[in-house]
Amino acid sequence: MALNVALLRASFEVVATANPRFVHRFYEVLFERYPQTRPMFPASGMARQEEMLTGALIAVLDHLEDAPWLTETLGALGAKHVGYGVTREMYDWVGASLLATLAEVAGSAWTPELNAAWTEAYGAIVSLMLARAAT
Ligand code: HEM
Repeated sequence: MALNVALLRASFEVVATANPRFVHRFYEVLFERYPQTRPMFPASGMARQEEMLTGALIAVLDHLEDAPWLTETLGALGAKHVGYGVTREMYDWVGASLLATLAEVAGSAWTPELNAAWTEAYGAIVSLMLARAAT
């Protein structure tokens, strides 16, 4: 992935510092915008889900320059998501909600350049997740 690794990592730091629970906020935004996704997740125990997504995001950011790791890990994660009932369209919902959350939490630090870098990175992540998910 020819992504802007430094920019992605630095902006993730900005977001995580501004709101360490930004993933919690992400799920609020997702469920507000796409309430049809709510029943897919545990009714209680979202804290564990939040931890897993945070961990996944950190791991991906740590491995942005490790293509074999990304292909293997995200391919396996995408295959598991088929079992969760996740469709191609839902990735767009999650992407829109994630980008909106990052922009909201970063506030004035959010720029068009950051938006472009995260849109590109999310698109690359989704491509790898869908590679082994015949949806
Ligand atoms: C960048 C994209 C995504 C990432 C990094 C991600 C990450 C994760 C992780 C790490 C888990 C924990 C379990 C596991 O390892 O399989 C998980 C579970 C799950 N994800 Fe995702 N996910 C993504 C996209 C989506 C999308 C688009 C949906 C659809 C709304 C979704 C719905 C779910 C559901 C329903 C579970 C299982 C919840 C449960 O039953 O505990 N995910 N995801």
